[in-house]
Amino acid sequence: MTVWLVGAGPGDPGLITAKGLELVRSCDALVYDRLVSRELVDEAPEDALRIAREELSQNEIDDLLVTLGREGLEVVRLKGGDPFVFGRGGEEAIALVKAGIDVQVVPGVSSIAAVPAAAGIPLTHRGVADRVRIFTGHGSGEHVEGETIVVFMGLQNLPRVVESLLADGVAPGTPAAVVSRGTLPEQEVVVARLHELPQAAAELDGPALVIVGEVVAMRERIVPALRNQLGLLAG
Ligand SMILES: C[S@@+](CC[C@H](N)C(=O)[O-])C[C@H]1O[C@@H](n2cnc3c(N)ncnc32)[C@H](O)[C@@H]1O
Repeated sequence: MTVWLVGAGPGDPGLITAKGLELVRSCDALVYDRLVSRELVDEAPEDALRIAREELSQNEIDDLLVTLGREGLEVVRLKGGDPFVFGRGGEEAIALVKAGIDVQVVPGVSSIAAVPAAAGIPLTHRGVADRVRIFTGHGSGEHVEGETIVVFMGLQNLPRVVESLLADGVAPGTPAAVVSRGTLPEQEVVVARLHELPQAAAELDGPALVIVGEVVAMRERIVPALRNQLGLLAG
């Protein structure tokens, strides 16, 4: 049995994905966040367990998901927006993988894309803005310098893209990835140190995103099949 980390979308219940809704409609247990709409919670089968996460700490949530997974239930962990954008989905995935429980991620429409669009604000506009910066204003008290850089349409000019990132001060050894045809059955992911990425990804076709930052190395803790490849980024 599987724990599904499902993105509920930004608020409008119609903005959950078809795959996410299908999973909600067939789950044994639904663990949902405060920002998830009531309509989506009501889509779960009548006899499904429904658990609001509101009163639980992150550790308690991780433990709860592990317990439900161990009971052999089909569990949907429904999170606002996308589970991996300021959603602590990575932490939950790592806890489940550590406990040997099958975990799958169903991406959601993140507020980062949906909310500006709904308000009539294009995040990028030719001649006006060619980059977007996102960060959290939520002070956890813990200061982290980490930044994730995502480059759209970067595969064709990858050597130049990498050169410009290095010139901007990004360390050559930073973990980096190219994800081609993401979410499709033909999805391919190449991971390398930033300075080696153009060579490593030379055979890939688009459409692709380039992702640069320490989060790339988290992948080996989130995708169980990669657990034995921990040496991939060594050196
Ligand atoms: C904990 S983060 C979760 C983000 C979520 N995982 C996502 O991908 O959208 C919650 C924050 O996302 C933003 N947010 C989420 N839904 C929103 C909405 N419908 N309208 C405006 N901002 C929203 C707000 O800044 C909110 O405090």
